[in-house]
Amino acid sequence: MKLLFVCLGNICRSPMAEGAMRAQIAASGLAGRVEVDSAGTAGWHAGRPPDQRAIECAARHGVDIAGLRARQLQEADFLRFDRILCADADNLRATAERCAAPVPTPGQLAMWLPWAGIEYMKSIPDPYYGGPEDFEQTWALVEEAARLSVRRLVRAAESGIIGA
Ligand code: 4NP
Repeated sequence: MKLLFVCLGNICRSPMAEGAMRAQIAASGLAGRVEVDSAGTAGWHAGRPPDQRAIECAARHGVDIAGLRARQLQEADFLRFDRILCADADNLRATAERCAAPVPTPGQLAMWLPWAGIEYMKSIPDPYYGGPEDFEQTWALVEEAARLSVRRLVRAAESGIIGA
């Protein structure tokens, strides 16, 4: 199972999602069976590491995302990833527009929080124009979504939907 996390710049929310997911997958027994990557609908920060505030926030929670590099979403991502999970509705719209061809398969493209089973929020608010406390709130949400996502993936693996 290959999962791609998408936000706008690929320097705040989606690298935090990628880092939180990698950490939870490593702890889950799914290591080697689930691949995780992230991308931005915009290419402004392509090639750059995550925002320093995101790096510091993840590090405070024991996750190192300093080695990640931003990239822009490509049409080929729709051939490569089973699930493309977006941080907010704007990202979902921009992602759908970008993949006019190839057309997403049913269920391939979704908002991440609802997909994870979070019901009290649909979108991950963008912390880019906020302060460290906004990054902390983002991390809390991302970590909960990662925990629920990994639980969902473990259940899928147990029922044979994800192969060994
Ligand atoms: P992200 O946050 O989509 O969570 O990576 C942003 C990063 C950069 C910008 C906006 C949001 N920007 O305007 O450059």
